[in-house]
Amino acid sequence: MADHLTAESAITVDRWRAAFESTPRHVFVPRYWELNEYNSPIRLVDSTVPSHRHEWLQAAYTDRVLVTQWRADEDRRIVTSSASLPSLVARMLHLLDVADGQRVLEIGTGTGYNTTLLCHRLGSANVTSIDVDLRLVAEAVGRLDTVGFAPTVIAGDGALGVKDGAPYDRILSTCASPGVPPAWIDQLADGGRIVTPLTIGGALAVLDKTGPGEVSGHLDTDAAWFMAMRSADRSMPVGLLADQPRPVPDDVAHLGVSTLDPKALTDPDFRLWLLLHQPRLHFVEHVDDQLTPTGLTVHNDVDIATAQRHADGRLHVRQSPPRRLWDTVESAWMSWTNHDKPRRDRLGITATADGLQYAWLDHPTRTQDKGGRGGVFHWPLPTPRQLPQTTKHPQP
Ligand SMILES: C[S@@+](CC[C@H](N)C(=O)[O-])C[C@H]1O[C@@H](n2cnc3c(N)ncnc32)[C@H](O)[C@@H]1O
Repeated sequence: MADHLTAESAITVDRWRAAFESTPRHVFVPRYWELNEYNSPIRLVDSTVPSHRHEWLQAAYTDRVLVTQWRADEDRRIVTSSASLPSLVARMLHLLDVADGQRVLEIGTGTGYNTTLLCHRLGSANVTSIDVDLRLVAEAVGRLDTVGFAPTVIAGDGALGVKDGAPYDRILSTCASPGVPPAWIDQLADGGRIVTPLTIGGALAVLDKTGPGEVSGHLDTDAAWFMAMRSADRSMPVGLLADQPRPVPDDVAHLGVSTLDPKALTDPDFRLWLLLHQPRLHFVEHVDDQLTPTGLTVHNDVDIATAQRHADGRLHVRQSPPRRLWDTVESAWMSWTNHDKPRRDRLGITATADGLQYAWLDHPTRTQDKGGRGGVFHWPLPTPRQLPQTTKHPQP
């Protein structure tokens, strides 16, 4: 696997290669769940079952996510822990840009695999890790001990950081949050860096401390889809699932025709741009019997718009008033196009310890485009307080 990750340029330095070579992933994933085509866990592969052993060992050293835990929520199975994709683990460790002697806080211990890589590189004394799930923490501590490491591992809500060990030179999150929790900014040392996935469009933010109580930085070129941070008392990941509002009656709905092809929304970087403006937006694709796309519904908690291709070849749009969501999608498309269809690494995030955050294009304070025209190129994101929050509870 280390050879593969090196060939793929996910591992670029010898020190990390040595960490991957020495860390037995199979120890951290004694069993995992196979997923069906809807990403729902369906079959347990268990190292204690003799007929599973070959398959299990193969999977442990393949560049794939291994789901280790899920919980039932009505008719859904919601994944609550996994061993992340090794190439993404390597990419995030690369972005973390650690140096000898630096202290790291990891959010989302999970299996303990990534924690072990950090311990290998920096030493157990410099590594603190936290997971919301007490059982996972207990198992991870046992496995870390087996391979000779004893970092500080805490059960609790990672959104609060781990105050006792602060300040940290680096904070690495392996679960996605809607924004940057203020506690992380408070607990970050001067010159520190946070690498965290966001629940918005697979964004992976690389944020440096830019002043007292402020972090800022670009998004990575690669998308990183991580499970959302959750609280101990709620099975549902925060901010991810929203009930679809009921369509409004014809006499109230705003009816029209659009020239925007719903295919535009299949570009992940446009989706990200749109979601950074409308973080609560959800998409439901429509298909016909042959699975050919015929339209799209976009909705948030209160508004809904449906765009459907009719026999006349035109895209008919039906929007609930007063905030017409399809109009919002169209104007986001126009602004994305007017800014030369920026890829995700032209975008960035600035966040402050008092909970403010905004997104920007190219530079946090850029106010003109390259043609010299004036324009606003940064815009506020909902603060963590405005989005559904993980419930705060004391750390044991
Ligand atoms: C993708 S897994 C972590 C993978 C892990 N780093 C590894 O190498 O196995 C995400 C983890 O985040 C944890 N998590 C979710 N919400 C959390 C929270 N509020 N605080 C701390 N951990 C959380 C989950 O329990 C899960 O184990």
